[in-house]
Amino acid sequence: MNLEVVKEYHGKVLKSSQDLKSSACCEGGDMPAHLEALLVNVHEEVRNRYYGCGIVVPASLKGARVLDLGSGSGRDVYLISQLVGPDGEVVGVDMTDEQLATANAHIDGHMRTFGYKRPNVKFLKGYIEKLSELGLSSVPEHPPERPTRRKSR
Ligand SMILES: C[S@@+](CC[C@H](N)C(=O)[O-])C[C@H]1O[C@@H](n2cnc3c(N)ncnc32)[C@H](O)[C@@H]1O
Repeated sequence: MNLEVVKEYHGKVLKSSQDLKSSACCEGGDMPAHLEALLVNVHEEVRNRYYGCGIVVPASLKGARVLDLGSGSGRDVYLISQLVGPDGEVVGVDMTDEQLATANAHIDGHMRTFGYKRPNVKFLKGYIEKLSELGLSSVPEHPPERPTRRKSR
């Protein structure tokens, strides 16, 4: 499947989570109660456009900087925004304009809801495979080959 097909599916075909064609990769369990409590603070439009499969969150994220690859309409970014707190940061990367438009439309509203003076989230348009173009990767995408060791005789 090429990236244009994926963009078309997430940006144009899907209008809400109800339109998803498959739940094959979903683990099906309930979200933990402490995350469920934070999810209610996430705007309904963002939640309705959740196309993900579940979330795994470390126990302590306060002050952390988190990168969400394929962040879509931003549900998990806004969830984690509350866990990292005002001194942390969450960056979402996605390639689909429609998803990014929904995510960006709700930054100010969420910051007011969370009580943050300045946004601790941002959404960048780009490709997961090309993070260096977004200034996110300090690791070369094509690292130089490791020198081969000479056999000693
Ligand atoms: C299954 S959806 C999940 C979206 C979001 N995490 C959520 O939970 O609603 C996958 C997302 O990844 C994005 N995506 C897929 N491949 C990508 C790539 N190579 N680079 C950037 N974004 C990509 C799609 O645009 C889509 O929004």
